Amino acid sequence: METGAAADSPAVDFLVVGAGVAGLRAAVELAGHGDVLVVTKESLGESNTHYAQGGIAVAAEDGADVGLHLEDTVRAGDGLVYPPAAQVLVSQGSLRVAELIEWGTNFDEATDSEGRRLNGRFLRTREGAHSLERILHANGDATGAEISRALVAHARRQPRIRFAEWTQVTRLVTAERRVMGAELAGAGPAGAGSGQPVAAPLRMRARAVLVASGGAGQVYAETTNPAVATGDGIALAAEAGAELADMEFYQFHPTALALEGAPRFLLSEALRGEGAYLRNGRGERFMERYHPQLELAPRDVVARAIAREGAVEGEARPVYLDMRHVKNVDLHRRFPGISAFLARHGLDLACDLIPVRPAAHYLMGGIRTDLSGRTSIAGLYAAGEAACTGVHGANRLASNSLLEGLVFGARAAQAMLADALPLIHTESEMPQEAKPLSAAEEQHLEATIVRLRSAMWTHAGLLREESSLREGLARQAECDAALAGLAMGAKRGRRLSEAQALSRVAEAILKSAVARTESRGAHFRSDYPRRDDQNFGRHSVLGANREVIFERW
Ligand code: SIN
Repeated sequence: METGAAADSPAVDFLVVGAGVAGLRAAVELAGHGDVLVVTKESLGESNTHYAQGGIAVAAEDGADVGLHLEDTVRAGDGLVYPPAAQVLVSQGSLRVAELIEWGTNFDEATDSEGRRLNGRFLRTREGAHSLERILHANGDATGAEISRALVAHARRQPRIRFAEWTQVTRLVTAERRVMGAELAGAGPAGAGSGQPVAAPLRMRARAVLVASGGAGQVYAETTNPAVATGDGIALAAEAGAELADMEFYQFHPTALALEGAPRFLLSEALRGEGAYLRNGRGERFMERYHPQLELAPRDVVARAIAREGAVEGEARPVYLDMRHVKNVDLHRRFPGISAFLARHGLDLACDLIPVRPAAHYLMGGIRTDLSGRTSIAGLYAAGEAACTGVHGANRLASNSLLEGLVFGARAAQAMLADALPLIHTESEMPQEAKPLSAAEEQHLEATIVRLRSAMWTHAGLLREESSLREGLARQAECDAALAGLAMGAKRGRRLSEAQALSRVAEAILKSAVARTESRGAHFRSDYPRRDDQNFGRHSVLGANREVIFERW
């Protein structure tokens, strides 16, 4: 890393924000050509990637499946997938997965009756809206953790990659009409950092900055996402003037555990891939009434069906996953992580009905990029869940997200190298030191976050309509004002930054959802229940003026 001339801020060739699959894959690509700093606000390995259960979708070996995988991706996206993006995803996917295997990722392999491995043949499962079994998995239901482990280990072997853990980006720095670096500050160990002053703020210059900091599930009161998923990178990019796109499309995973006192733990779609039924409170297998693909219908269809079946006469009734009839699979062996979690709550996949309901899971929208991760601002790139290439359209095909991170992470890195932007020299300017919040202010902050998340769940959830969305916007504006009040006098810190990022993302979701007066994929408007291709077969784009326009890509 260059420390620069005396008057310059420190510099690195490439700054990567986020250490999930997209950030790490990009860092590996960049490391052959320059010094890379990967910044993550927790310890390495803590990311949305780590929690992915079901697997990674990749066209089956015979090559013919590339076309089918493309068709499935486009169909699930409900008329809004940008076809060139999907083509890139499915055609470059196998190369990227082969690299992962070479770098030490252990996907589950087929064995004979005596447990001998069958020549590197991998087991493949099926999930919703896939026309065949193409999903690789690892350790049964811990695919993300295995990919993350292998990628972290591989990245650590690259001498030109350095990691800044427990570090947050507080601002992207722009000059000469491009992003030329970022302000960094210590984020403190989780919890301990809340409301505390950020330590040793630093301005780091870079030739190019990649935002790969993942999604924003924490914007909703109910989510499968970990606490780190607060949309920081999306908010930073928007603050720097980058366009956001398709922000109204938030995917709700149909089956999160719905048990009083337990977290909304993800119950992988692979359970339905292995035969699980969905039953309502009367024991009916209700998906027959909603879609010919039954439990393996696209995610948005299943999530809304569960919400409808669960809402009877104004009351929330339980809906269940049922695997009691599945006798050809050793469920505890196939799903060890899920089985262990359920056992801690007194439930057994093999003999109990498992109560479920939808929870916020994945943002199809994000920072608008081209197919190589370039945003609308020079020097700023984005990949993975933080980005929007249009690859998922209005509804992501299950298990396409890890593949997206790999494919578009590598492509963004290649664009950063090809663009070969120079470092910009600036007078060293220390970011302002933050002051701590008082205990009362911390309490106010937490209460504001709870209010924001619950307003989003109520007003911008699975079923939306104009009056409720506008009510949501009013609640978001109140929360935003409260957060601005807390930030006065240079008071900041990790938790306040996260809250402000959540508020910015909430505003983008709400405004985009108000503007799209139709129903499509994950965005269902009760007041406009039909898909309207003529007016809305287009992507929403939220510019620096915070207004939504629609564009055909
Ligand atoms: C799951 O295992 O159901 C989640 C996979 C995904 O979100 O694609």
